[in-house]
Amino acid sequence: MDTLNKLKQFDAYPKTLEDFRVKTWGGATVTIISGVIMLILFVSELQYYLTKEVHPELYVDTSRGDKLKINIDVIFPHMPCAYLSIDAMDVAGEQQLDVEHNLFKQRLDKDLKPVTTEAEKHEMGGADDGETFDPSTLDPNRCESCYGAETEDLKCCNTCDDVREAYRRRGWAFKNADTIEQCKREGFTQKMMEQKNEGCQVYGFLEVNKVAGNFHFAPGKSFQQSHVHVHDLQSFGLDNINMTHLIKHLSFGKDYPGIVNPLDGADVTAPQASMMYQYFVKIVPTIYVKTDGEVVKTNQFSVTRHEKVANGLIGDQGLPGVFVLYELSPMMVKFTEKHR
Ligand SMILES: *[C@@H]1O[C@H](CO)[C@@H](O)[C@H](O)[C@H]1NC(C)=O
Repeated sequence: MDTLNKLKQFDAYPKTLEDFRVKTWGGATVTIISGVIMLILFVSELQYYLTKEVHPELYVDTSRGDKLKINIDVIFPHMPCAYLSIDAMDVAGEQQLDVEHNLFKQRLDKDLKPVTTEAEKHEMGGADDGETFDPSTLDPNRCESCYGAETEDLKCCNTCDDVREAYRRRGWAFKNADTIEQCKREGFTQKMMEQKNEGCQVYGFLEVNKVAGNFHFAPGKSFQQSHVHVHDLQSFGLDNINMTHLIKHLSFGKDYPGIVNPLDGADVTAPQASMMYQYFVKIVPTIYVKTDGEVVKTNQFSVTRHEKVANGLIGDQGLPGVFVLYELSPMMVKFTEKHR
């Protein structure tokens, strides 16, 4: 008890006598203001101390055989899902058919609201015209008419696609799909009509080999013709192709704190019909090491956009659509998080 009292009386600072002290409002204000300033300074310094420092380093990328994951979420307000095809190709123009992919197409109405509750999984190469009927009910050995477009190696047109293909080889316009038995059966025109004023959202990811290449969203069924990648645009008028698009997200790998994906939120309105948009992307491999030792292997990118009108005439280079052409930088960035 005695020691406690002594402790209470203990004072490290000498005090002036009570009589000499002057208590003023001004003095109180100064005390309060300086107290608040001290508190603010303390908190801000503490906050700064607790933030992590990120230390960048540059290397030559010597890693090999990795895969590149492309995350995609793009909305085409005027491109029905039935028209849109998605292809991925490597630098040599070879179609990457074996790419691991998980892409979905969601039909959207005029107000960009989903039409169906479930998105459709997309198959690479070709706008899926969808099969609403069961083909196994037909005779597998049948040989149906190509409506005059038969060729040596395409004598029978058993599906709407075959007829389209035969017409394409002849260079004929494929217009009156509703007069073609095979297409009527498969509900091709019905599907096209049904989706006429719709839009499409494409989302998901692609996993491709880590070499330069491109992927694109373009109207029409795609195929290889003497080693050139082409799209069949005959079934719809070029004037109706509105390539307006909104990129909600595009990235090449996982996100790390502070990553900037320059195309996120890009809203591009096509001023004319059948525009061709090319995005030239430079990918910079990036490693991010967190303070807890977690390593994130990902990529940053920079992009430039080029646009032109692709009227689809012979000899005219280009095709309406959105093309993303990517290249890999030989330099790699490593970010290391450190405590201060
Ligand atoms: C495409 O649609 C947008 C509206 O989303 C419109 O502003 C633009 O004029 C259209 N372009 C063409 C060529 O019809």
